[in-house]
Amino acid sequence: MLKVSQDGQVTPYATGLRSPAGFGINAQGDIFYTENQGDWVGSGRMTHLELGDFAGNPAGLRWSSEKGSPVSLKVNDIDDTRNLSLYEYQNELKGVKAPSIWFPHTLMGISTSDINFFSKEMGPFEGQMMVGDQGHSKIMRVFQEKVNGVYQGVCFPFREGFASGILRIINNPENDAVYVGQTSRGWGSTGQSSFALERLSWTGKMPFEIKTIKVHPEGFSLEFTQPIDAASAQSLSSYQITDFTYSYHHFYGSDVQNKERRNITEISLSEDGMNVLLKLDQFRKGYIYEIKASGVLNKLSQPLLHDFGYYTLNEIPIGTSNLGKDPSSSTKAKRISLKRITEQPETGFNPIDITLEIGTAPGLKFDQSNLTVVAGSSVKLTFNNTDDMPHNFVLVAKNKADEVGIAATKLGLDGAALGFVPEIDAVITHTNLLAPHEIESIYFTAPEVPGAYPFLCTFPGHYLTMRGVLTVTAKSVL
Ligand code: CU
Repeated sequence: MLKVSQDGQVTPYATGLRSPAGFGINAQGDIFYTENQGDWVGSGRMTHLELGDFAGNPAGLRWSSEKGSPVSLKVNDIDDTRNLSLYEYQNELKGVKAPSIWFPHTLMGISTSDINFFSKEMGPFEGQMMVGDQGHSKIMRVFQEKVNGVYQGVCFPFREGFASGILRIINNPENDAVYVGQTSRGWGSTGQSSFALERLSWTGKMPFEIKTIKVHPEGFSLEFTQPIDAASAQSLSSYQITDFTYSYHHFYGSDVQNKERRNITEISLSEDGMNVLLKLDQFRKGYIYEIKASGVLNKLSQPLLHDFGYYTLNEIPIGTSNLGKDPSSSTKAKRISLKRITEQPETGFNPIDITLEIGTAPGLKFDQSNLTVVAGSSVKLTFNNTDDMPHNFVLVAKNKADEVGIAATKLGLDGAALGFVPEIDAVITHTNLLAPHEIESIYFTAPEVPGAYPFLCTFPGHYLTMRGVLTVTAKSVL
C-alpha cells in the first residue's frame, strides 16, 4: 500500500497484501482493505492497515530492505512450519497484523471485494460496512468495534442474488441508494451475467435482523432491529455457538482448524427486548465465533431474515479473567456415507447396465444437463471435475433440487466435513466434494419410478446454476 500526496509524492505505507479488491476509510480515518483467500490467506478477510503493518503475504517483503521502508520484517523472518494462526503469529512477531474481520470461506463468500458504508437512508445499519463478494454475487454486512485499541467485529449476510460478480459499490449523490458494479469475466460468479450495474435501495420496511454483535467480558451481546419474543430469546436451543480458526501457511487457503462447540452458561434479555447477552463457558482469543440465533423470533413470531454472523475475537474487554486454554486440535471425522459407493458392488453390478460420464463447464455448470437411464438399472457414473474450484455431483428425488441445495448451504461449519452433502432423505446418491481436477466414480441403482430426477452441485452458491436432470425411463416390457 502506497500513500500518494496531493503534490504527487509517493511513500510506502504497509505491505503483505495478496489480492486486495476493496479499500475503505471509516469515519475515524482508519484504513481497511479486503483480501481474497489464497496462498498465505486462509479465508477472505478485512485488515486495518497502519503505517508499517505486514498483513501476511511475504511477497511484498522483498522491498522492505529499501531505504524509507516503514516495514522492517524480512522475507526470511517468516516461518510457517509451526501451523499457527495469523493471530498467534502476530503475538510472536512484531509487525504482523491479524485481520479485524474474517469472512469464512463459502459460509459467507468466496472472493471478498469492495467496501462501502451504510448511510442512514439505507436502513437501520448507519455507519456499518457493506462488503461485496465477487464469486457469490452478494453483499455482506460488517459491524466493527474497537476493543483494547484493536478493531474486530462481526459479518452477516446482507443481500444476495445479484446479476454478476460484485466488484464495486458506490453511493448515489443522494446517499439513499448504492450502485453495484459487477463482472464475471475471468472469474466465475453465481450471478450468470458477464457484467451488470444494479441499483440497491431500501424499501423502508424494517427487516428483522441481528443489528450488531458486541463482545462482552464473558460472552457476546446481540442487538436486534426489532423487539424479540422473550420465550424464544431465553431458550438455550435458540442458539448455537462454535469457534474455530485458520492456519497461516504458504498453501492455498486453509481448512477450518480447532473447531469446538461453546456452551452458553447464561442468557439475559434487556428490558426493552432489543438485546440479549449470552455468557459462554470459554473464550479463545484469535478465534472466529460462528453465532447462530435461529430460534429467536420477533413479537410477531417471525424468524430472523439472517440468523447468523461470524465474530472475529482479537481482544476481550479488560476487567475479566480470560479462562482460555490452549487450543486443542480437533480430530477430523472422516465421513462414511451409504449413498456414496465408490467400489463396484459384488451383486447387481455384474454387468453394469450403463456407464455415464459427466464433467464441468465454465461458469458453474456441468458439461451436460441431461442424462438418461432405464428404471432400476445398475449405473456407474464418473464425475470429472475439470474446473478450478471444488464441485460435487448429487442426485436427488423429484423436485428436490432447491430443498437439497438450501439444506447444504445451511450446514454451516459442519458442511466441509460432509462434502456439503446434507444427510436428508431427498439425496439419492452423490460423489465426494472433488477438488479441482479430481475424478471419482460412484455406483448406484437407478430409481424404480420413471421420471425426472434433478442432479446438482451442493457446494454453497452453486446449486442454482450447476444442475441438470437424470431422466429415468420405464423398463421396456418385452
Ligand atoms: Cu459446484
